[in-house]
Amino acid sequence: MDHFQYKNDELYCEEISCVELASQFGTPLYVYSASTIRENCQQFLKAFSKHPTEICYAVKANYNLSVLKEVFSLGLGADVVSVGELERALKAGVAPHKVVFSGVGKNRGEIERAISVGVAALNVESLSELLLIKKIAEETKKKISINLRVNPNIDVRTNPYIATGLHKTKFGIADELLLEVIQHIKNHPYVIVEGLACHIGSQILELDSFEQAAQRLKQLAYELQTMGYSISRVDMGGGLGISYDGKDNPPSISQYGEALFKVLGTSGLKLYLEPGRAIVGNAGGILTRVIHVKKNKARHFTVVDAAMNDLIRPCLYEAFHEILTVRNNHDDKVITDVVGPVCETGDFLGLGREIATPKSGDLLLVKTTGAYGSSMASNYNTRPRAAEVLVSGTSVKLIRKRESLESLWELELCE
Ligand SMILES: Cc1ncc(COP(=O)(O)O)c(C=O)c1O
Repeated sequence: MDHFQYKNDELYCEEISCVELASQFGTPLYVYSASTIRENCQQFLKAFSKHPTEICYAVKANYNLSVLKEVFSLGLGADVVSVGELERALKAGVAPHKVVFSGVGKNRGEIERAISVGVAALNVESLSELLLIKKIAEETKKKISINLRVNPNIDVRTNPYIATGLHKTKFGIADELLLEVIQHIKNHPYVIVEGLACHIGSQILELDSFEQAAQRLKQLAYELQTMGYSISRVDMGGGLGISYDGKDNPPSISQYGEALFKVLGTSGLKLYLEPGRAIVGNAGGILTRVIHVKKNKARHFTVVDAAMNDLIRPCLYEAFHEILTVRNNHDDKVITDVVGPVCETGDFLGLGREIATPKSGDLLLVKTTGAYGSSMASNYNTRPRAAEVLVSGTSVKLIRKRESLESLWELELCE
């Protein structure tokens, strides 16, 4: 359920008409529904209420400060993958002890900052990273709690670019190498290994992959406990999929909770989760205006003012996003490729879509863009990044201004 709905054949986000939003803020425009974000957070909190769990929102999915504030105000923590994300999360009010720091390439500065603010854990992805942490901890004589991120070699059915749980990917420590790595910090006075972590991929639609990963982590945690390590938690990462086309049938958040509870319920291990997409994905849409309509022989094109720089997912992952006309005028329909103005054939938002025949000036909404939309945006073709608004009931807040052209070259040095 999201909050983009037609009322009298006109599309609304919550109680605000998309036509009004476009005329007040211009297009392209990222529109987010605060109620959807809150409902998704609450579903997570409820689904995991019977097991000690920390829900750490994956900041990378949508890092706008106002979005983060909404999420943290409900009691969620953060999963960050760079010092930039850490500082953002802190600025938005997250409690440092609710932050986990993931990522395959944390550098010295990032590790030092994480230690100094007192994050809950660094999720360590290699022996090299572990040795760096050990060195820093010994120099500073500060304790740091870590989880070792395990790569459990699980083949999930998702786009290969977002599958992260196979040994051939760069992520985590192969499960067979765990014992070799962990002995470097056995009984270490400052580096305390308290947990195991994994993140097997994103946009996962089957629960069995999560269950398999949880089983593997539980088994490894028990093995380590018998060897004298005090492993007390598992971080299962993010990855729960959502519906992009109304046809794929993702598990609900509560089914996901039940599945993990089945494996970990009596384990005595505290659970950490890092959901991103499942919190913000269906809360957002990109409002875009048709610039031109053209026909090239057999193909019909709708050229809109949003492009791959605003939403790279269709081009990068061949991802599908539903596209709606803002006025549901029941006109003759046409099959059209909805494309942006960027000079790449890969610059499309949707191919072969049947929509009410568009004309210049019409508005469209590209749905389910709350996650990995604005956070993956770029300035390609010297296109200013779009503004962002947060709608809550009948009120709307500008939460990021549209970039000005001047700001795009402000940092460049030209004699
Ligand atoms: C380590 C880690 N945690 C959490 C996430 C969030 O995944 P999702 O948005 O699919 O829940 C990602 C996404 O790439 C990730 O790499």
